Amino acid sequence: MKSSNTKLILVHPSSLHKQLASHRVWFLVFISFFTLAFTLTLITTKETITAAASSAGTFSSTTFAGKSPLPRQVFDALVHYASVNTSTVNSRMSAAELGAIAAVLRRCNSHSTTPCNFLVFGLTHETLLWSSLNYKGRTVFVGDNDYFVSRFEQKHPEIEAYDVQFTTKVSELYELLKYSKEQIKKECRPVQNLLFTDCKLAINDLPNNIYDAVWDVILIDGPTGFLPTAPGRMSAIFTAGVLARSKRGNTDVFVHEFDREVERVSSQEFLCKENLVATVDTLGHFVVGEMDSKRFEFCRNFEEISSTSSPSSTKITNLLKHRL
Ligand SMILES: *[C@@H]1O[C@H](CO)[C@@H](O)[C@H](O)[C@H]1NC(C)=O
Repeated sequence: MKSSNTKLILVHPSSLHKQLASHRVWFLVFISFFTLAFTLTLITTKETITAAASSAGTFSSTTFAGKSPLPRQVFDALVHYASVNTSTVNSRMSAAELGAIAAVLRRCNSHSTTPCNFLVFGLTHETLLWSSLNYKGRTVFVGDNDYFVSRFEQKHPEIEAYDVQFTTKVSELYELLKYSKEQIKKECRPVQNLLFTDCKLAINDLPNNIYDAVWDVILIDGPTGFLPTAPGRMSAIFTAGVLARSKRGNTDVFVHEFDREVERVSSQEFLCKENLVATVDTLGHFVVGEMDSKRFEFCRNFEEISSTSSPSSTKITNLLKHRL
C-alpha cells in the first residue's frame, strides 16, 4: 500500500498533486509511527508477562499445565464412569482392592524418570480406570475374546489391547501343574524369553515387544470364568511369574479372585507364598524379584497359601476331583 502510494506521488508531480501528496505523506508518517509504537508496546507487554511467569517459577508452570486439555483416555474414562449404570455391571472390584492397585500405580508413576509399564490380563469394568491411572506410562490389556477386544479397541482407540487364544482348561489344572514340574528345566523354566517357548502354560503369541518390555506391575483379572471348560488363569499366572523373574528388579503382581482354586493353586506354584505381601478381599498382592537363570524352581520354600474357604472354591475342588 505504502509503496504504491509513493509511486503515484512521483509519477504525477503537479502542484495539486503535490499538495495532496504532502498530506498523504504526513498521514503515512503518522500511521507508521502509530503502528511502530503499538508493535513496541505489544512486544514489551508480552515480554513482561513471560518474565513474570518465569519468575513465578513452579506455580506458574503448573498453572499453565493445568490449562492443557485432559489426556483423552482420562477424559473418556470420567465420562464413562459417570454415565455407566452400575447395576448392569456383572463384576467389579471392591474399594479396598481398587485402592491397593491404585497405591502401587501411584508409587510406580512417582519415579518420574521412567514411565510405568502395566500389563493387565482381562478386559473388565476397570479397564478405562487402569489406563487413566497409568496415562503417563504404557498399559497393555490381554483379552481372551477377539470380537470383544476389537470392539473395545474401536470404541477406545487409545487403548492397547491384544487377544490370546487360551488353550488350557480349568479341568486340566493338576495335569498342567504336573507337566510344568516335568518341564521345569526345559520349556517351562522360570527365567526365559517366553516368545521362544513351547510350554503349554506359557502365553507366547503376543507381539514380540511385550516380551522385551520391563513390566513394573502385572494384574491378572482374566480370562473370565471358572467352569471346568473355561480357560482359567493358570497360564496368565505362569506367564506373569516368568516375566517378573526374567527382568531386573521387582515386579508387583496382583491376582484377582484369589479365593478360587485355580487362582490360589497356580499362585502358590508360580508366584509363591514367600512373595505374597498382602491380601485384600479377593486380591492377592505378590512382589516377585529377578531370579538367577540357573535356578530351576519357582519357589524357594514351597508353602501352600491357606484357602479362604469360600463356597465357590469348594465347588471347583469337587468338580476337579470328579474329572481327575
Ligand atoms: C439401571 O439398570 C437397571 C437394570 O437394567 C434398571 O432397572 C435401572 O432403571 C437403570 N437405572 C438407570 C438410572 O438407568
